[in-house]
Amino acid sequence: MKHYSIKPKVIVAPLSYEVLNEFKLGNHILILVSKTVFETFEFSIIFDKLKRKQNLYIYSHIRPDAPFEDLDKVIDDLNGKHIESIIAIGGGSVIDAAKTLSVAFEGVSYKDVFYNKALMPNKKIKVIAVPTTAGTGAELSFGAIIYDNQNLIKGGLRGEIIQPNGVIIDAKLHNACPPKLKAEVGFDCLTHAIETYISKKTNPLAKIQSISCIENIFKYLTLACKDNDECAMEKIAISSALMGINLAYSSTCLPHRIQYVIGPLTGTSHAQGLIALYKGWLKHLADSRLTELKDLVNDLGMNINQFLKKIQSLKDSLDINYTITDLGIHQNQIDEISKNVTGNVSADPSYRDVGTIKKILTNSL
Ligand SMILES: [Fe+2]
Repeated sequence: MKHYSIKPKVIVAPLSYEVLNEFKLGNHILILVSKTVFETFEFSIIFDKLKRKQNLYIYSHIRPDAPFEDLDKVIDDLNGKHIESIIAIGGGSVIDAAKTLSVAFEGVSYKDVFYNKALMPNKKIKVIAVPTTAGTGAELSFGAIIYDNQNLIKGGLRGEIIQPNGVIIDAKLHNACPPKLKAEVGFDCLTHAIETYISKKTNPLAKIQSISCIENIFKYLTLACKDNDECAMEKIAISSALMGINLAYSSTCLPHRIQYVIGPLTGTSHAQGLIALYKGWLKHLADSRLTELKDLVNDLGMNINQFLKKIQSLKDSLDINYTITDLGIHQNQIDEISKNVTGNVSADPSYRDVGTIKKILTNSL
C-alpha cells in the first residue's frame, strides 16, 4: 500500500491580515520572524490589525540552525502565557524553531524529545508557516532540525504531529533572500526531488511530485534568482513546499547522509555541501547504470547525458559549481569522513558498502 497525504491547507497569496484569519489563531499569538525579513518588509499594518483583538509576542532573534539558547529565550520570556498559535515568517531555521516551540508550549521538554528521553507528544499548538526561502521544505515536512549550542550537537525532532497546520506562500517575501542564497537553497529543493524519487522508500505519488519539481527548477530557478521574477519564484516556492511532503513519505539518499558529516567539518551550509556532493553522486549513479536514474530521466523525457548536462548548466548559470575541494576537503580526509557517515544509508539504491561513500567523495573532489 502506498500512502501519501497532501495536507494541511496551503494558501498562495500575499501575506495579509485577512489571509492569516483563514486560520483560527486564538488570542495569544507568538510571531517568529527572521531578522532580515522583519527589517526589509513592512508588517506593521498586519500586526496592528491583529493587535486590536489579540495579544502578539513578536521575536526576530532566531539564528541559523535554531540554537537551543534562542528557543529557551522565548520559552522563558513567555512562561505562564497561554500561547495558542505560532506564525513563523522566515527560512528553515525560523520555521523549525516554531515547530519545536509548538511542542514545548504543550508542556513537553523539547530537549528530552531531542535526546530520545521522551516520546514525541501527540499534541502541540498550531503553527502557520510563511516561508521566505524556497528549498528546505520545512514548511510541510515532519521534522525540525535544531542545534544544541552548548554540546555542539545538531539533530532533529521527528513525527507527523510536528508538521505545520497551515502554509502561506507569498513569493514577494522571497525577494529579501540574496540571489546566491536563493540559488543554493533552490538546489537543495532539487536534491529533495531527485533523492525522494531515487530512494528505495519512494512511491508513485512522490515520484510524480518529484518530476514536476525538477521541471520547475530547470525552467524557473535561474529566472527567480537572477531577475527576482515573482511568478518564477512562486513556482519554486510551491515546489519547495511539496518536496516537504515528499521528504515525509520518501527519504533522502547518500548526499544528505554525507553532508551531515562534511557540513560541521568545513563550516559550510547544507546546500553548499549537497551541491558539491552531487558532482560525485550523479557520476556514481550514471557509472553504475542505476535503474532508478534511468527511470527518472525517462520520466523527464531525457537521457542520462542530457540530464547530467542540464544539472551542470544550471550550476554554471547560477555560479554555484562547487566541489568538495572548494569546501576545504582534501583527498586524505576521505577515509575518515566515510567512516563517520551514519543514518539509513541503505535507502540509497546505489549503496553497497563504505566503498560507495569513498567513491562519491573522490568523484566530488
Ligand atoms: Fe536538504
